[in-house]
Amino acid sequence: MDKGSVKLAPSILAADFAYLGEQVAEAERGGADRIHVDIMDGHFVPNITMGAPVVQSLRKVTSLRLEIHMMITDPDSFLDEFVKAGSDSFIVHWEGNNNLHRTVQRIRSLQKQVGVAINPATPAFVLEEILPDLDQVLVMTVNPGFGHQPFISTTLPKIKRVGQMIEQLKPGCELEVDGGIDDATAQLTVAAGANVLVAGSAIFGANVGVCAAMQRLRASIISNGLVLRDRQQFHVKKEQLCS
Ligand code: DX5
Ligand code: ZN
Repeated sequence: MDKGSVKLAPSILAADFAYLGEQVAEAERGGADRIHVDIMDGHFVPNITMGAPVVQSLRKVTSLRLEIHMMITDPDSFLDEFVKAGSDSFIVHWEGNNNLHRTVQRIRSLQKQVGVAINPATPAFVLEEILPDLDQVLVMTVNPGFGHQPFISTTLPKIKRVGQMIEQLKPGCELEVDGGIDDATAQLTVAAGANVLVAGSAIFGANVGVCAAMQRLRASIISNGLVLRDRQQFHVKKEQLCS
């Protein structure tokens, strides 16, 4: 897996659902690496979002990877349905899963990429045993359940710790952050070691438009004197098509 770039994963939670196809197409033109799809069931988190039919519709309009963030109490029961709909990868939570290894292996057996998410209050060390089995770790930088929440800055040292664990246990595993990512916090999280940024409001809620918002997010990371480590450069594709 490519660790030499920072990737943007627009979260459609903040999109205008009446124009979802167009919004995803614009994100693709802006150089999105993948589309982040937040699934919530009103139990695991106090909010309800969408199900597999939305993924099925998205599959018809984009060739980008569809990354499914499962914020539901029983992710295992819904994996087949989401795979059939066209999902490419799954992120499941460490919290509330008594058989995480089984869930991870099940996703592998479906030949899909797999990641584990940890909430802001969950320490990095819980990942130690499962990390070698993962393609990505997702550090939640807000409490899961809603878009447009303020970034929780105490997650920054944890991002750094997770980055160190990845170096030791699974080099190549992606380190993704999710929640409250904007021009300012994108810089901070990349400096801490994140290489995939999920962003909802900062991309789909921006008044400059989706494509331009993505350009702005990228620009913020390389501005203001932030020195990126050598291995971190931006993954830029097609962004010149913004107009
Ligand atoms: C929150 C979700 C996020 C959400 C982020 O539980 O997992 O993916 O869409 O939204 P913003 O970027 O608005 O914080
Ligand atoms: Zn998410």
